[in-house]
Amino acid sequence: MMKQPARSFVDMQSGEISREIFVDETIYRQEQERIFARAWVYVGHETQIPNTGDFFLSRMGEESVIVTRDASKRVRVLLNTCRHRGMRVCRYDEGNSNAFQCPYHGWTYAVDGKLLGVQKYDRIYEPPFDKARWGLIEAAKIANFRSTIWATWDAEAPPFEEYLGEAKFALDIGFCSWDAGESGTEVLGSVQKWIIPANWKIVAENFAGDVLHNISHRSVDLVGLGPNDKAGRRDDPGRGALAACPEGHGIIYTVAAASPERADYSASPATAAYFKRCWERRLAKMGDQAGVSATVGTIFPNMSFHAQQPRTILVAHPSGPHHTEMWRWYLVDKQAPPEVKQFLRSYYMRYSGPAGLTEQDDMENWKYATNASRGAVARRYPYNYKAGMGPPRRDPLVPGSTDGAFTERNARALYNRWADYMDATTWSDLRGLRSE
Ligand code: FES
Ligand SMILES: [Fe+2]
Repeated sequence: MMKQPARSFVDMQSGEISREIFVDETIYRQEQERIFARAWVYVGHETQIPNTGDFFLSRMGEESVIVTRDASKRVRVLLNTCRHRGMRVCRYDEGNSNAFQCPYHGWTYAVDGKLLGVQKYDRIYEPPFDKARWGLIEAAKIANFRSTIWATWDAEAPPFEEYLGEAKFALDIGFCSWDAGESGTEVLGSVQKWIIPANWKIVAENFAGDVLHNISHRSVDLVGLGPNDKAGRRDDPGRGALAACPEGHGIIYTVAAASPERADYSASPATAAYFKRCWERRLAKMGDQAGVSATVGTIFPNMSFHAQQPRTILVAHPSGPHHTEMWRWYLVDKQAPPEVKQFLRSYYMRYSGPAGLTEQDDMENWKYATNASRGAVARRYPYNYKAGMGPPRRDPLVPGSTDGAFTERNARALYNRWADYMDATTWSDLRGLRSE
């Protein structure tokens, strides 16, 4: 347990945050308890498990979970550890099965987590123990929001939409289909996974609202790897608007005129035609608000997304204070023609993931920043988060907006909430601490 309150590392008045929270082992251990065992965390996308018996392995903090679709088509999130002696009951990344048999001593569990079979159960357990009490541990609550699946271990956690607060608007406009309809998105291929030598929070912070780091992507901007024939990385025209949520989430919106000339994918005529059709429908449905994009954001603690183009989800799984396992999902409209999906697939991979040029720029920064902050002398000096300490500015089109794009308000909101989680012992304490 930490010797001093987490709040003492995060000074909201001065905008200074101690480097200890990015490098210290004790702080890292407490994060597992106080953040990842309590917050709502993203575990996957429902199109990864369309059929009964489908499963994929995910993580909640450091821990492995199996996300399954049971016989009644219900999604389950189960802790991947045998109740007998702790062995992982599932060691495949994804697949379909009607049961999970533990390879150690053979206990067998149904896809809903129930303990079905125990070796020599009738002969050696006298009296027999109650199998109903020894199923796989299940998440306390699960939520499905526009096909994204979330879970929490804490039965006292608020309902998911309350947890999102005003960030709900970002997921609503970001994860519907491109025409703002209900046909939804699907995951393209499998999740890309890789490890970086950096603390997980530096990743969460970057996507929560760090616009000033765009200078790192100068060369990528010049190359022009975006979906158009022009220079640039993305298709997000317009002015920036930040939303710093008291729940710890941070979003970078871009706001453009809701004009009919929006879609421009000149590199692929079929893609351009598809997005033009979608844009016309989106415009008719959303009016002025169609011009608002949830370009980049982080849902506290570690789910980050791009929801314009590219459209991807990144989870920064903590793997020790100095390592993070990065998982990236790529999303496309379920109903998009194959040519559009193929076009986006190659664009997404140019942009993100271990081979993506933009991601590589970011990873260089995170890796060297973590390493250079670990030294006995370096860690005495706090980081500076002082940009935009003045009163917030609201954008009428963006719920929860607090600013133009060039401040560090979103990062401060994330660490403010981080300190709340680390110091509060229950969810009712956390509710009481919520302040803007
Ligand atoms: S550890 Fe799973 S059956 Fe023994
Ligand atoms: Fe970046």
